[in-house]
Amino acid sequence: MQAVLFDLDGVITDTAKYHFTAWKQMAERIGIEIDSDFNESLKGIERMQSLERILVHGHQEQKYSQAEKERLAQEKNDEYVSLLAGLTPEDTYPGIKELLTELQENKIPAVIASASKNAPLILEALQLNTYFHAIVDPGGIPGKPEPDIFVKGAEQAGADSVYCIGIEDSQAGIEAIKAAGMYAVGIGEESILGPSGADIVYPSTKELTLQRLLTAAQLA
Ligand code: BG6
Ligand code: MG
Repeated sequence: MQAVLFDLDGVITDTAKYHFTAWKQMAERIGIEIDSDFNESLKGIERMQSLERILVHGHQEQKYSQAEKERLAQEKNDEYVSLLAGLTPEDTYPGIKELLTELQENKIPAVIASASKNAPLILEALQLNTYFHAIVDPGGIPGKPEPDIFVKGAEQAGADSVYCIGIEDSQAGIEAIKAAGMYAVGIGEESILGPSGADIVYPSTKELTLQRLLTAAQLA
């Protein structure tokens, strides 16, 4: 195995729930209801794209100018960032630090492939920066489910995609990993991530050990 590419929100820590809370509040202010089923279609999706999906969901896609949309997205991000304020290393999902340590010991680069512009802030709060070889800049490339962010992550690690593993909690992310030609590990529910193409789904990050990943992906 040449590299492991990690999504951030919902894989490294439970920030997916804060994204949902912040979008829900913003949507309610403009009269749109979103539930957790709809939220599955927002996971992994870049900020302005997520807003577009919410507006379409609420039949308001024609209602706002570009400047108003930017203001709505900014409001959501302000709320989201305020929810991140209490984040500490203890909020890292179980098993993640252990896996990152194993990867480091085995000289296998770990890379963050997240759509979030808040990734550096979150990794700093979790004190995990030093475990990652790179954080892919999501700016200027097509978002998930396109493969670009994973392809770029492999390149930054000097790895060949077919010898990489990607770990994701979102349908769009699993599709992106598969489109990049990698082995896709889902964190969450088989019924949600299986149909998107996950090669294996674990209910929790607790299951993620280097040995288990190598065996599952047959990438010793
Ligand atoms: C993804 C999340 O990781 O990042 C999405 O799953 C989020 O919910 C996207 O919209 C962009 O994040 P941010 O922090 O740049 O708004
Ligand atoms: Mg995610």
